[in-house]
Amino acid sequence: MADVKRGALRAFVAAAVVACASFGAHAADKQITLGFSQVGAESAWRTANTESVKSAAPAAGINLKFADAQQKQENQIKAIRSYIAQKVDVIAFSPVVESGWEPVLQEAKAAKIPVILTDRNIDVKDTSLYVTMIGSDFLEEGRRGGRWLEEHYKDNPGPINIVELQGTVGSAPANDRHAGLVEIIQKDPKFKIIASQSGDFTLAGGKQVMEAFAKTYAGKYNVVYAHNDDMALGAIQAMEEAGVHPGKDVQVVSFDATHGGFQAMVDGKINVDVECSPLLGPQLMQAVKDVVAGKELPRRIKTEETVFVQADAAKIMPTRKY
Ligand code: AHR
Repeated sequence: MADVKRGALRAFVAAAVVACASFGAHAADKQITLGFSQVGAESAWRTANTESVKSAAPAAGINLKFADAQQKQENQIKAIRSYIAQKVDVIAFSPVVESGWEPVLQEAKAAKIPVILTDRNIDVKDTSLYVTMIGSDFLEEGRRGGRWLEEHYKDNPGPINIVELQGTVGSAPANDRHAGLVEIIQKDPKFKIIASQSGDFTLAGGKQVMEAFAKTYAGKYNVVYAHNDDMALGAIQAMEEAGVHPGKDVQVVSFDATHGGFQAMVDGKINVDVECSPLLGPQLMQAVKDVVAGKELPRRIKTEETVFVQADAAKIMPTRKY
């Protein structure tokens, strides 16, 4: 009887060892789960960015949990808290605004879940709250828009009056595209920003703000500086309805270089489009894998970008991916 019991115990221990070994192997090969909180669906750029993230995840073998925050920070905070509760392996998000992230990111840190920022940066004192930031240099983009104006008006004594359609209030691209422009034009007093208002990165917002500008500043503005293509397209509609010829009577500077922006350049209505690439999915997935593998990542992964002018638009447009 004692021998039978000893045999059963040996068989149980052997089975348990096999089970533990195979659980260990499964844990090592376990599929990575990424929780991603997206800003919203405010622009053509954003749609392309979402598609890039959603297609890159399965291609990299990553299980993606995706939430659209509808341009509200509180929704992003809720999504991040839910990813922490679900114990995902990595959290990534494109922050709608720069400030107010410390408490939720402290929670992610306490749960030992690494956080990756994509597209937009945040303003936090403790930079250990995120591993890396993947995306564009918005300040440089703003400088690029400013430099184009500097060059375009180099033989014009001015005054050159600019109306600015800003992106979402408090967002990194709105703050930096404004700051980059100011940094360049402040060297020459002929340039003046006479009005500045947020159109929230949407076509409807850009149109609404431009309708008001077109009335208040009729005949007094030379440049529309729109923080993205969607707002530039809305502003073009508003100017045309007001009898102004965008791209001719008024120079239009825009950002993103989406298909819509390119078409407007081909049509002669946007003069220059500063590129901002939304195709961040593959880089993000690589960073996720690296972080899970314990590799050290650079604090900042910048996107390569350029500036497109109207004269080249028709030739380049067929090569554009978004
Ligand atoms: O953060 C990137 C910006 O957000 C893009 O320029 C804009 O189109 C988007 O909504």
